[in-house]
Amino acid sequence: MLTEELFLALVEQASLAPSADNMQPWEFRRKNDSIEVYCSPLRMLPTDALSMFSWISIGAAIQNIVLAATKYNLCAKVIYKEVEDTTEPVAVITFSIGTTKSALTDFIRIRNTNRNPFQLESIETNCMERLNQSVEKFDARIHWTTDYKHFKQMAYMDAHSSYIRLAHKPLHDELFHILRFTTKEVNEKHYGLTFESLEVPTIAVRFAKQLRYWSINQMISNLGIGRLVAKHLSTKLMRAGGICLITVSRRNRIAYIEAGRAIEQLWLTVTAEGLSAQPYGVLPQYFTKKDIEPDFFPPLYKKAITAHEKPFYSIFPNAKNEFPALVLRLGRTDKPSLRSDERLPIEEIIHKTSKE
Ligand SMILES: Cc1cc2nc3c(=O)[nH]c(=O)nc-3n(C[C@H](O)[C@H](O)[C@H](O)COP(=O)(O)O)c2cc1C
Repeated sequence: MLTEELFLALVEQASLAPSADNMQPWEFRRKNDSIEVYCSPLRMLPTDALSMFSWISIGAAIQNIVLAATKYNLCAKVIYKEVEDTTEPVAVITFSIGTTKSALTDFIRIRNTNRNPFQLESIETNCMERLNQSVEKFDARIHWTTDYKHFKQMAYMDAHSSYIRLAHKPLHDELFHILRFTTKEVNEKHYGLTFESLEVPTIAVRFAKQLRYWSINQMISNLGIGRLVAKHLSTKLMRAGGICLITVSRRNRIAYIEAGRAIEQLWLTVTAEGLSAQPYGVLPQYFTKKDIEPDFFPPLYKKAITAHEKPFYSIFPNAKNEFPALVLRLGRTDKPSLRSDERLPIEEIIHKTSKE
């Protein structure tokens, strides 16, 4: 049933999924008529709390396979594996014949991260209802705000957390490990974040390059420039038709993979509705990191992050008893995204066992 050709076609669709910092932390292997899903430790960010963003990304890739399979009249079933050992598959996708083609398959290729400002008009109630329905069948929840006052609060909190990625050395070093400044770097690696896709002025590229040196970065940081850059990037949270938060009920791998599947289903529905989306990972990531590894942040940063929790949960009151996975800014824009569509060649995401 699952020929090599079909397997490669499904893996190609999986590779178009979103991933945090475009790390594409996934690998796939055909085993008889099923697809084994592996993580790629080399492309998982060491500071990622509980590897939550890697699992979310892998979940998104899995969902693309599930949807793409319907084009071939195949109904996919995802079985999560409890294994600790990351050399073992984290999920296995099996197939049975007979299903109807999902309309979302047409949007896998055009879904992207759009970092432009969006129009301010609120997402219509009917549309929001369809977006809510898109995540209903997953073990993850969606919470909304369409209140401009909340957008401003979110922008403030994002700015007052994002600067920590430049200011705290382990996060700074990791950031410059995954940022790609030149076409040569992009073509060599095929993963990581291209600076161009961040939609910042060209002059910022030259400036940002210098920040890779910790001493220069610290000097600039002392002048408050890191905070200014963070503020600039965060203001776009004020240009949205709605902001949603996806939460999980447990903090574990399976829950985050499920959230990733829900996020991809939501994002493809958003695309089908003619809307655009941009994730904001920093608050869910830092809230989780602070809880799981209390000593990771120096006291000053920890205090700043903790101070955001109360206002955050007053914006999303029903999320209080849940755990945050990802924030997404949604809305309409005529400006196309400079999508970071760089992807690894398919052969590099085919998992090889030690015997192969
Ligand atoms: C878990 C997760 C977290 C992300 N966090 C952010 C973020 O904080 N800011 C942002 O601009 N994009 C974020 N992204 C979007 C990725 O950078 C994007 O998916 C990747 O670069 C591939 O580009 P594409 O979505 O256009 O295909 C995130 C994506 C995922 C899956």
